[in-house]
Amino acid sequence: MKTDLNDILQKNGNFSKEELVFLLSLQGSDMQKLLDKALEVKLKYLDNKVRLRGLIEYSNKCRKNCLYCGLRSSNTSVKRYELSEDEVIECAKMAMDSHYGSIAIQSGERQDKEFVEKIEYLIKKVKQISNNKLGITLSLGEQSFETYKRWFDAGAHRYLLRIEASNKNLYYKIHPENELHSYENRISCIDNLLKTGYQTGTGVMIGLPFQTKEDLADDLLFFKAKNVAMVGMGPFIPHPDTPLWQYKDLIPDKRERMRLTLKMIAVLRLMMPQINMVSATANQTIDESGREKAVVCGANVIMPNLSPEENREEYSIYPDKACVHDKPDQCRNCLDIRMHTIDHEILYDDWGDSLAFTKTHPEQAGLK
Ligand code: 5AD
Ligand code: SF4
Ligand code: FES
Repeated sequence: MKTDLNDILQKNGNFSKEELVFLLSLQGSDMQKLLDKALEVKLKYLDNKVRLRGLIEYSNKCRKNCLYCGLRSSNTSVKRYELSEDEVIECAKMAMDSHYGSIAIQSGERQDKEFVEKIEYLIKKVKQISNNKLGITLSLGEQSFETYKRWFDAGAHRYLLRIEASNKNLYYKIHPENELHSYENRISCIDNLLKTGYQTGTGVMIGLPFQTKEDLADDLLFFKAKNVAMVGMGPFIPHPDTPLWQYKDLIPDKRERMRLTLKMIAVLRLMMPQINMVSATANQTIDESGREKAVVCGANVIMPNLSPEENREEYSIYPDKACVHDKPDQCRNCLDIRMHTIDHEILYDDWGDSLAFTKTHPEQAGLK
């Protein structure tokens, strides 16, 4: 059977796995056709607005040992930190001063009582000092249902937990195979987040060693099957202090990883026209205009860093993170200009909720 790109692009995003693999294999002008179609769909079903989440990297202490991440517990070359209450509040105030409508609190994974209580307290505090103006996204790893519920009740309304790789075999090639890194538990955490009522986000890394186009096609089908409201996917960037570094020569080069990332974003935009999709900072690490490229093929969220400068370097999930030495107002101006050059606009003073979610949960739209 001859596959025709134009026919597939007319299918309203209902793609078979074979068609997904075909789309992810496009190059040159055919690839560009796919990216253009995704922009068209985004502008039709959403808009040209980019939603911001001011990123607060709360702590780089982590109980886990993921084989790709610089913060893994076995990496002794990291100086571990945890922000104080005052520092978090300072970041939240910077978000407000910069008119960012939302913050995202991210951290290495911890489940101890002290951590759970501290986060709950900080959520309430941010809500209080911002007069409920700031939306809060959490990205704090796997937790019990009770903890998810507690943080939701405290005022957080979005949660990101990437599945990292939806294929179980691949999952265990990039995580140690033990109780702390259980694939089943990760899935049940995503289900619990959905059940709790969060706008739930997941995602994967792209260009991992051993990852095939079939795996990536399955990742896209996984997002669709879970009916998530948000997706964050970005290129894998090998970190020298991690076990996966040894496979760095097996992975696609930077330019190919960038192209694959753009194709993943574009195809998903066709499949799920109204979800929120982040253009990961990792895009900018492998391509100077990587974040813009992702926005013009379907992404609609950017997460500028708000963390105190002295901690940023220590939050080294992957090397050469963008904007490590830039102040929030520098990033704000820079992003403004960058978005205008691609005919996009930043949405200020707005939570920037996922339209896919508010449509299916009208009762929760604008409630918090
Ligand atoms: N390259 C790219 N992304 C990474 N992450 C962790 N390590 C890396 C890496 N080496 C991503 C994971 C995690 C998110 C916080 O950062 O997907 O969910
Ligand atoms: Fe910890 Fe997250 Fe890094 Fe895994 S990816 S080691 S859970 S910070
Ligand atoms: Fe940070 Fe450009 S976005 S300096």
